[in-house]
Amino acid sequence: MAVQISPSILSADFARLAEAAAAVPNADWLHVDVMDNHFVPNLTLGLPVVESLLKATTLPLDCHLMIEDPDRWAPSYAEAGAGSVTIHAEAAKAPIRTLRQIRAAGARSGLALNPGTPVEPYEDLLGEIDMLLLMTVEPGFGGQKFLDVVLPKIHRARRLIDKHGGQVWLQVDGGVSDHTIERCAEAGADVFVAGNAVYGADDPAMAVDSLRSMAEK
Ligand code: DX5
Ligand code: ZN
Repeated sequence: MAVQISPSILSADFARLAEAAAAVPNADWLHVDVMDNHFVPNLTLGLPVVESLLKATTLPLDCHLMIEDPDRWAPSYAEAGAGSVTIHAEAAKAPIRTLRQIRAAGARSGLALNPGTPVEPYEDLLGEIDMLLLMTVEPGFGGQKFLDVVLPKIHRARRLIDKHGGQVWLQVDGGVSDHTIERCAEAGADVFVAGNAVYGADDPAMAVDSLRSMAEK
């Protein structure tokens, strides 16, 4: 699978989201962190903002739901037109039903795991998902330090995915930068979320290109 870069608008100016999207025309996705101040100790944006963003950019939206009740909300993001909707395994009460509803609404389905959540118990769900997201920081905030402790899990997830045919994309999110992306790629990740590394750069588009070339090495 070709490397894909998904800049996280969590690190952009929330009053200028359309400009943030326009600043990365070379990205594959725009990563949208939905936080509800319950699943994580931070509050960002929800469906109305996603609906507006969909009209403001041609980039597909990669919605990462860090919310307590993804079963209730995830299908609405897919129906609104998000290209990908990812729910957290730690929060979903009926993940199989919810993942199927996401797909039925025409979006790619994603399952996210916090740094401390093992991947092996979710092997049977690989057939229900288009992407597995491994958090490489504790979710909630941008600009945190990459957790090296997750690297062995990225390796193990890659092996599990390959055992099941290799179609599921493997995304990493948190602390991904020029300093950490190569290790993630070597471990088997193929979709890279980057917030600070893109929107903290003077030229966000150049940062996307630089991350991509480092991951492709
Ligand atoms: C953190 C979010 C990430 C965040 C990553 O909970 O899920 O998407 O924006 O930001 P950086 O790349 O700065 O760690
Ligand atoms: Zn995220």
